[in-house]
Amino acid sequence: MKEKALQQLYQRIMDCRCPCPGEKTGGILVRDRGNPATRIVFLGEAPGGEEIKQGIPFAGQAGRNLAGYLHLAGLTREDIFIVNTVKCRPTRNNGRANRKPGACEIKYCARWLDEELAILSPGVIVTLGDVALKRLGGGKSMRIGNCHGRPFVLERYAVFPMYHPAAAIYRRALAEVIERDFIKLGNWLREMKQ
Ligand code: URA
Repeated sequence: MKEKALQQLYQRIMDCRCPCPGEKTGGILVRDRGNPATRIVFLGEAPGGEEIKQGIPFAGQAGRNLAGYLHLAGLTREDIFIVNTVKCRPTRNNGRANRKPGACEIKYCARWLDEELAILSPGVIVTLGDVALKRLGGGKSMRIGNCHGRPFVLERYAVFPMYHPAAAIYRRALAEVIERDFIKLGNWLREMKQ
């Protein structure tokens, strides 16, 4: 049921031609093969080169980091479903590098993410990085540095903000912070179950 609705949605996303400025790779399906029936959705930023190649979110180095962090929370990729805020891959230097999605791309893709979340209907959304947090929190006032690891309720979702797993690649000091947050996430999920 969810799978069919997702497939129909992803077909439409593949046909999407985003009018926003900035170079990008689009029209390639990057979708999770995780568990659409789960109550836990992880919200990333946008696919990168490796994700476009393999067609799954968090397939590259960021995915390897994520797998390690998930383990600390007592989770595997089969326990969660991963979606991205922006569906195409924002690039620069003729596709040689990724770039942060712009406001137009985030706004334009909001329609897809809203539909995706309506289908998946999760109880918990773990946001990875500031793009996902701002998209979901809806405001500029929320900063990942101030609210990581501190869950809040947004409409019908419990939101758990996290640093993006790739942040630790560039700022080694963040690795420990992210590890602590994932341990906290595991404890919090177990408490919610009781
Ligand atoms: N980073 C993200 O935010 N999403 C991906 O799918 C891969 C890396």
